[in-house]
Amino acid sequence: MDRHPQMPTPVDNNALRLVEATVADLDRIMELERQGFAAGHQELRSAYALRIATFPQGSLMAWRGADCVGCVFSEIWRATPQPDAAHFTLGHDIRERHDPVLGNELYISSMTLVPTVRGLGLGAPLLSACLAHATQAFPQLNSTLLLVNAAWAPARRIYAGLGFVEIARFAGFFDAGEGSRQDGIVMRRPIRP
Ligand SMILES: CC(C)(COP(=O)(O)OP(=O)(O)OC[C@H]1O[C@@H](n2cnc3c(N)ncnc32)[C@H](O)[C@@H]1OP(=O)(O)O)[C@@H](O)C(=O)NCCC(=O)NCCS
Repeated sequence: MDRHPQMPTPVDNNALRLVEATVADLDRIMELERQGFAAGHQELRSAYALRIATFPQGSLMAWRGADCVGCVFSEIWRATPQPDAAHFTLGHDIRERHDPVLGNELYISSMTLVPTVRGLGLGAPLLSACLAHATQAFPQLNSTLLLVNAAWAPARRIYAGLGFVEIARFAGFFDAGEGSRQDGIVMRRPIRP
């Protein structure tokens, strides 16, 4: 359809544009980390710097119009039937398991939206856009995996809604402070639904 030159382009307010992160995004990433996770759950800046250097295609900043509203990070692993809790520890080095040549499973290591856009239904589009970006660049991927805190209700709803199913549970994996702990749930789904 032809557009009048002065007719504004329609804006899909929920459309997210994913852009590969660079080290220039590290301050913003750490701010998202502080806004998204309690102190004991925050990832190290050095871990993010390594992710960006090692796997830029899996280190994605999410833009909505002129605003950066979130980020999602991933790694490519060789799939194992039952993942080990040690693979998911905070501060783990992406280079330990990331294998973009022989790997066939996308591990989502982190996903966050700024508080001002939460509750708008952007969580599922953010994850779906990340999966689409990864499968385009790495067609050999055939499954995707993540770890979620059993207590994080919105995240669990998003993953279940996208077809992820629980494959393992690590009792007391997360430190919830004041001596209490929360379970970690590993969820997996085929990368193409
Ligand atoms: C996880 C996160 C990206 C989800 O985005 P969001 O904008 O909050 O969630 P959405 O608006 O996309 O909604 C997700 C679902 O959770 C539901 N939900 C929202 N708040 C909820 C709550 N307190 N309890 C239960 N369900 C809730 C929504 O109704 C929606 O379900 P539906 O699609 O069946 O209606 C965002 O909350 C966030 O950045 N959290 C902090 C970091 C984090 O926890 N990351 C995930 C790590 S595994």
